[in-house]
Amino acid sequence: MTSPIYVAIDTPDLARARIIAAAVRRHAGGLKLGLEFFCHNGRSGVLEMAELGLPIFLDLKLHDIPNTVAKAIQALAPIAPAVLTVHASGGRAMLEDAKAAAPAGTKVVAVTMLTSLDDRDLDATGINGKAHDQVERLALLSREAGLDGIVCSGNEVAAARNGWKDGFFVVPGIRPANGELADQKRVMTPREAMDSGASILVIGRPVTQAADPDAALKAIAATL
Ligand code: C5P
Repeated sequence: MTSPIYVAIDTPDLARARIIAAAVRRHAGGLKLGLEFFCHNGRSGVLEMAELGLPIFLDLKLHDIPNTVAKAIQALAPIAPAVLTVHASGGRAMLEDAKAAAPAGTKVVAVTMLTSLDDRDLDATGINGKAHDQVERLALLSREAGLDGIVCSGNEVAAARNGWKDGFFVVPGIRPANGELADQKRVMTPREAMDSGASILVIGRPVTQAADPDAALKAIAATL
């Protein structure tokens, strides 16, 4: 069975990214490349990583006016990533245009609320209420706009999946039991997140910072 674990290769260093990716390639479901990697290495860096043969999740979390986001996605066409992210708070028109601009085989998923934020952070941005409600609201918006799914924490995925049975649910903020939280606040173990309805898990530092990334990934996979 293909692993549901996408390893977040968060480094600007292409050589290091290739080493980590090569180490985990047999046990990872895919590679997630984000802003840190992309700002340094651009499209050619992503294409180089794709040569390893794993699906690419391009996590650029696009958030701008609809025309700008659509044009940015068109510019990414040569990569045709398996998964691409935008911010759900960009609004309905932006989400619709993002999906329309993406290659047919690319799943466009919307980040609802970063897993580094909690209710107090949300309040400070002027949004009153609970993270949970905000995620549900943005999940509904994303579904209505025709996206493939959302990114949310393990705490919200069960409720979101309930209202969107065939949605593609990406869950980051994954920490093995007793793992270090670092900047993440809304966390869950890999097993709990899968049991709650995640489609794929995004795991970064618990794998990439381990002395033996492949062994760390295998140990996590064994808990699923
Ligand atoms: O190292 P760690 O496991 O915390 O990495 C999580 C990854 O998931 C990072 O690459 C981060 O950008 C991403 N992410 C997140 N929260 C979201 C969306 C993506 O942590 N809501």
